[in-house]
Amino acid sequence: MSFTYEQSALYCEAVALADIAARAGTPVYVYSSQSILDSFRAYDDALTGIPHMVCYAVKANSTLAILSLLAKAGSGFDIVSGGELFRVVKAGGDPSRVVFSGVGKTPEEVDYALAQGIHSFNAESEAELSLIDAIANRRGVKVSFALRVNPDVDAVTHPYTATGLRDHKFGIDISDVEGVYERARSLKNLVAHGVSCHIGSQLLSTSPMMDASDKMMALVGRLRASGHCIQYFDAGGGLGVSYKPADQAPEIGQFIASLRAKLAAKDLKVMIEPGRSIVGPAGVLLTRVLYRKSTGRKEFVIVDAAMNDLIRPALYQSHHEIIPLRETGRAGVVADVVGPVCETGDFLARGRTVANVMPGDLMAVCTVGAYGFVQASNYNSRTRPPEVLVEGSQWRVVRTRETYDDLIRGEQI
Ligand code: LLP
Repeated sequence: MSFTYEQSALYCEAVALADIAARAGTPVYVYSSQSILDSFRAYDDALTGIPHMVCYAVKANSTLAILSLLAKAGSGFDIVSGGELFRVVKAGGDPSRVVFSGVGKTPEEVDYALAQGIHSFNAESEAELSLIDAIANRRGVKVSFALRVNPDVDAVTHPYTATGLRDHKFGIDISDVEGVYERARSLKNLVAHGVSCHIGSQLLSTSPMMDASDKMMALVGRLRASGHCIQYFDAGGGLGVSYKPADQAPEIGQFIASLRAKLAAKDLKVMIEPGRSIVGPAGVLLTRVLYRKSTGRKEFVIVDAAMNDLIRPALYQSHHEIIPLRETGRAGVVADVVGPVCETGDFLARGRTVANVMPGDLMAVCTVGAYGFVQASNYNSRTRPPEVLVEGSQWRVVRTRETYDDLIRGEQI
């Protein structure tokens, strides 16, 4: 466990979080490097013995220091934009271990990815394939691709994070995909080396992914029988994490073991694109209580972090545990934990039993390493918070707090 209480004070690894809040200010995102590396290695180790590439999904947290940590540990990367590729390169990631996913790649992004020499594209439409082929032709290069298959499997997650049903914008319908591979033979700068799928995010049961894998393995058999040299299966990301103490998140090693069982004797390289399960549990958002307020019917804890810092509760009604940096032993209180932004949707928790904190007290919003800072905005002209990386008893600011000048950068009157 990377976040633990020692003598009533909350620690990240061997650093008291109150020390970070005192020196870096609040709100502040804090990440445990140990937790990130442990999760990455859980994937990598479970895939030992078969050709594989763990491609961390950059969208979950694209901070350079985190990309660098993962690059040094040997991770590949799953990107969905030119900007994410730029970050990977800046962080020292190896472009030849990058897969480019996403439904709307622009010509400029495709050209940039080819110039950097990425591993492959996960293409989501026939029109996109033609575009990649034309740009590769202009550059005089050949590139591997997989079609992202929409397997029509219900991922059983929040509707905004499910992607594998026929009605979703993602991928190519499994019943059409063989025709697309067939027609792609005429594209001389593309090689059909893979198949890919990603059915959704925050999956607390792996059975939808196993159902999708069954469909994908049958597809690989049919494609090979028609003469396509399929060498890899990209299983996407999606493994859920425990946001509530009662959540039973799948264990990474067990998930990979079941996946491996599906591939047995298929002679396929496995690619996997985990995001949340690598960085989610590794991050907390520290916030200071500004005020307490009671309407008689309702109790509010007003804190200095808001929906612009962490939009997940407002956008997906997601639950994040909120715990005090110092345990007091006082009885809890049922309250809404809200931020300073002028919206009723600006809450971090509603009707939650939390510690009976007072103005000046510090709290940690838990499990925010994934889709936390990356979805932060400057709404209400609030500066985005700094980020801190902890390594054992050391910590450092890896992104400074924005200033008012940052808020108006690039603007003209
Ligand atoms: N690969 C592809 C093609 C994806 O679209 C995604 C996530 C991943 C991999 C990584 O999935 P993960 O292992 O992190 O579940 N903002 C939302 C999550 C959106 C996920 C989008 N795609 C949230 O805060 O829950």
